[in-house]
Order: sequence, then C-alpha cells, then structure tokens
Amino acid sequence: MLKQDFLLPTETELTTRQYHIARSHKKNGTSLEDSRPYLEELGIEIRENRQSIQFLPNTNEPVHRWSPYVQGFSARFVQRTLEKYRREYRSPIILDPFAGSGTVPVQTKLNGLKFYGIELNPLLHFVASAKTRNWNVNPEKLLSISRHLSAKKDFRAPSFLKSSRQFNPGVLANLEKLMSGIQSFEPGNNEDAQIRELMLLAFSSILIEVSNLKRTPCLGYSPSKRVEDEAPFNAFAQKIEEIAEDLWLLQTMYRHCLDVEGQIVLANSAEYTHSTEYDLVITSPPYMNGLDYVINYKIEMGWLGFGQTHQELKHLKDSMVVCDNVSKGLIRNFTRSDRYANDWIENIKSEIAQNIERRGSYRRPDMPEIVHKYFDDMYRIMKNVISALKPGGRFIQVIGDSLIADVYVPTDLILARMGRELGLRIESIEKARNRRSGQIRTYQLRETIVTLKKD
Ligand SMILES: C[S@@+](CC[C@H](N)C(=O)[O-])C[C@H]1O[C@@H](n2cnc3c(N)ncnc32)[C@H](O)[C@@H]1O
Repeated sequence: MLKQDFLLPTETELTTRQYHIARSHKKNGTSLEDSRPYLEELGIEIRENRQSIQFLPNTNEPVHRWSPYVQGFSARFVQRTLEKYRREYRSPIILDPFAGSGTVPVQTKLNGLKFYGIELNPLLHFVASAKTRNWNVNPEKLLSISRHLSAKKDFRAPSFLKSSRQFNPGVLANLEKLMSGIQSFEPGNNEDAQIRELMLLAFSSILIEVSNLKRTPCLGYSPSKRVEDEAPFNAFAQKIEEIAEDLWLLQTMYRHCLDVEGQIVLANSAEYTHSTEYDLVITSPPYMNGLDYVINYKIEMGWLGFGQTHQELKHLKDSMVVCDNVSKGLIRNFTRSDRYANDWIENIKSEIAQNIERRGSYRRPDMPEIVHKYFDDMYRIMKNVISALKPGGRFIQVIGDSLIADVYVPTDLILARMGRELGLRIESIEKARNRRSGQIRTYQLRETIVTLKKD
C-alpha cells in the first residue's frame, strides 16, 4: 500500500462520494494540464481572454431582463462579438441554433441586424419570441390593461403544480387569479395579442421568485424562503413596469431597430432545414453532463401549458442534446445506432467505463454512452448549421469542459476538432474564465470561446 493511500480515510468513514473525491488523482488538477495532448494533436494553443460571459449582468440590461434565465450567456459578450466583426461583415445575418431565452437574437436586433434563432424547448421558444417581437407595443396601454385585469374565466393550475412545497396555498390561489385575469383578456387586434403575450411572459418570469424554490442554476427547494400571499400581484406589476420602461426606451432610442426582421423557430437544430445562409453563428450549446432543460423549466412549462404530461416532457427531453438525466431506453437505442465516432471519444469512454467499474457503482452506469451521445448530437447539429454558413462565415461557441468519473473531457477541443472535420478552420480558442468541477471542487475547468471559420 502506498503511504498516501494509508493516510486516506476509509469508505466507511465517508460517504461514497466523499471517498471517491478523497482518493481522486484529479484533486488540485487543471484542465489545461489535461488538455496538452489534445492541443498538441490539434496544433493550437488556448489564448487567455478573460471576460464576463455569464447571464447575471443581463438582469440589468433592457429587454434581456424581461426573463430571469440563469443559463443564458452575457449580452455584452454578444455585443463585443458583433462589434469585433462589424467591419468584416457589412450587414451580417446571425443565427443562434440554441437560442434559449434569446440573448443572441435580442442583442442582434438591438444592433439593427437580422437574426435567426432555433430552440427546441417550447417555453424558451416562447420567451425568446416574446422578447424579440413585441417592441412596438404602446407601454401605456400595456400598463393600463395589466392593471385592470378582471377574471371572467376560471384558470386552474395543473395538479402537479399544486404542492405546498412549491407554492404556499395563498400564493397559488393568487397565481390562479392572475392567470385567470390574463386569460380573460381577449385581444381585439394585433397589439392586444402582443400585450397578452407580454403579460404571459411577465407571469412566467415571476414564477420562481414567488415559489418556495430557487434556481441556482438547477431548480431546488429553498426552505428558508418566505413568500407573502400578495407576492404574485406585486412581482407581476413590477415586471410589467420593467417591460413598459424598456418599451419606452426602445421606441425612443432604438427606433431604427423596431422593425428589424428576424425569427425564432421551434425546432430541433439537428433536423431544421435552413432557408437562409448565415454570416455568423453565435451560440452556447448545452454543456456535457449539464442541465436538464426540461425538468429545470417544468414549473413555467406547466403554468403556461407547454408539456403537461410526463410523457410529453420525456419525449421532449429525449429529443434535445443529451443530458445525464435522459431515459435509459434512449441510451440503449443509441448504442445500436449509426453514430459519429473518433479516437478521442473512444478513449474517453473506455477510461470512464474503467473508472466506473473500479468504483463499483455510479449514478449512471451508462455514462460512457451518454458522453458519446452528447458528441453525436453536437456533430449532427454542427453539420447541419455549417451547411448553412456562408463562405467566410464564422461559427462561435461558448462552451465549458467537464470532469466525469475522474476523466477529463475537453468538450471545446472535441467540438473544435469536429468543426475541422466538417471543413472549418480553427481560428482561435480563448479561455474566458475558470470554473470549478462540480465533482472535485479543487479541479479547475474552463469556459472557452471557440471560433471556427469557413474559409
Ligand atoms: C446554454 S442554453 C442557451 C442559452 C442562450 N444562449 C441564452 O442566452 O438564453 C442551450 C439551449 O439549447 C436548447 N437545446 C437543446 N437541445 C436542442 C436542440 N436539439 N435543438 C435546439 N435547441 C436545443 C436548450 O433548450 C437550451 O435552451
């Protein structure tokens, strides 16, 4: 036995998770060290380019703040990117194939440029659409209608939302009253329909705030949270005021952008048939092993009527870029399918499999196949998007790497390699910030900006 092993606590003294962390050879490691062989093979270096690329600052930015979407990325990053290429592309057409809450489309429209977005989650598709298509609404009319809602229809929340762990009974009753009011408002013209959409957006945006939950970024209970019964009305009124204030700003300072063309499509980016060619693709894909974009939004989806049944939600989740919460059947079928492969992925898979076997158990024993499916999904999407990229166009992705069962997965470098295989040149890989691994807190991961160019 090595001296170091001798000093380590035994499994009975620790939880299994703590035990594996204590024994991990990845403690105090860095992704940069583990990336060396991959970088050498690609013949590139990672450049330091520290910058804020997270959503948080967006909560103070006009329009972006209409929805609190923590997984989104920074509007300022999108702005810097648009400015960087302003001279090279005169009136670029921009695509985000993972539009989420619409950071790229909104910021692109604020620059007076044509935007396209693709998003598969119907709630996020609704959010991104509502944030990009209602800029001509009269703010006074929005304020007035939202202050005089009267409930002629009776809205009842789906039963799975009626748990007091999620909402205090008084809050739930007031949310139902508020939704009844919004649904009773019958649009008489196009502007009214837009007002209704903005009210639904405001409603969805306050749900977590007035619940007993928090999103950090995964959805979880927050036992210390105290929410007043009146909170839904107050939070809704405040959100509508924010929207009205921004509409006024748009209609005075951004008049030239109000009617800029654009579209957010509800579709799978792996299958969507593009009818346009793009100059710039700016995007942030789901991260390997990252969030479950269905469970994380099930509260808002339930209230707004997207994905009411378990079956619908499962189907949606299984069509998205894979996360480690997908059905086992999906992964079983995947192992039998024709799929993208390369030697890096094969090696990573076999190391993960060995580590899982050594541990004896793992949250998902099929993790090697989940990792493989992630890259297969990303390959299909990149291939489809690249086919619609103009010559001279760029594909810019913000992406994080992962540590899975003590195996380092250089997601950014694997995606860069795929881009090269699909005919793009790796123009740069820039490190924007360091992150900690969720498994081994002392292991330093990174978030990078990968720029690929169609020469
Ligand atoms: C990291 S988020 C993007 C956030 C976005 N940049 C923003 O600022 O709001 C990734 C998004 O990809 C979506 N998504 C996952 N699989 C998809 C697919 N196959 N086609 C289209 N969208 C997908 C998820 O629903 C999620 O909204």
